[in-house]
Amino acid sequence: MKKETKDIKVLLSRHFPERGIEMMREEGYGLTVWNEDRPMTQKELIRKARSHTALLCTSFEKIDKTFLDHCSHLDIISQFGVGYDNIDVDQATRQGIPVGNTPDVLSDATADVAFGLMINVSRKMFYLHKSISQGEWNYFRPNANLGIELKNRTLGIFGLGRIGLAMAKRCRGAYNMEVIYHNRSENSEAEREIGARYVSFDDLVENSDVLSVHASLSKETSGRFDKNVFGRMKSSSIFINTARGLIHNEEDLIHALDNGIIWGAGLDVTNPEPMAPSNPLLSMENVAVLPHVGSGTVETRNKMSELAALNIIELYRGNEIPNLVNPEVLKTG
Ligand code: DGY
Repeated sequence: MKKETKDIKVLLSRHFPERGIEMMREEGYGLTVWNEDRPMTQKELIRKARSHTALLCTSFEKIDKTFLDHCSHLDIISQFGVGYDNIDVDQATRQGIPVGNTPDVLSDATADVAFGLMINVSRKMFYLHKSISQGEWNYFRPNANLGIELKNRTLGIFGLGRIGLAMAKRCRGAYNMEVIYHNRSENSEAEREIGARYVSFDDLVENSDVLSVHASLSKETSGRFDKNVFGRMKSSSIFINTARGLIHNEEDLIHALDNGIIWGAGLDVTNPEPMAPSNPLLSMENVAVLPHVGSGTVETRNKMSELAALNIIELYRGNEIPNLVNPEVLKTG
């Protein structure tokens, strides 16, 4: 895309790690960084984006038809993150706007969080940590605070892509877990590397000791884990979600945990976000919740910042966008 450098103006919806900002500064772009200690409202986002040529945003900005109708002039929307369910990609494509994201670089960090949640839930660690501060460390009781072991259990992955595979490798290596998975399509790499076995959704639900969600949010996955599904899981099972909170029904999850229908849950994503401090999940023994921090390491966030900036830079240099979500846009443009 040919544009004079002086005309390139990038709006950054948050204060992202410096690395990407620096890269764009070196290109000579005009940059506007939203520095307030609150997210922009959609009105503010639209108003600001109208005077910019590119947007660097997160999955917490709503890039829907309303936004796109007001901002059809944008040369690119570059998302700081791998999931892009916040963006109406079909509409962006119709309007000729390329959408970029930052896959791969956050797979290990996110899998670490899924793996960590699983161990924490299996040993009630978050709960026990809190109980000490409430003065509940009294004396040794052989039958109290017992967790369950993960060795040789079955890990079920819902959505076995890059993050799911990284989680599965951790579980196989650490606990020799058998890996079963359900996906839109079979993952031959996972089958070859760790002997993962493709199963139907019903088999996944009924046979997993730990069921870890790594699918993207879509019409098919939204609300997929509901009362009915939890009711078919093993009563000794652990449910982990580090993908998107809307994939599970939180009321149904609370009901399943309260009634011993499943054993525990670890969530890095909730429904809604942020989770209310009064949410009953926060006081349950077998539950661990984190505030959507899957990709939250210095190294990963730096790489994401770099990739998100690179998507914009390569476009303006007239090169291929390294991580283009909607390649069909090249035909419309
Ligand atoms: C992602 O990259 O999709 C993370 O969940 C942050 O939104």
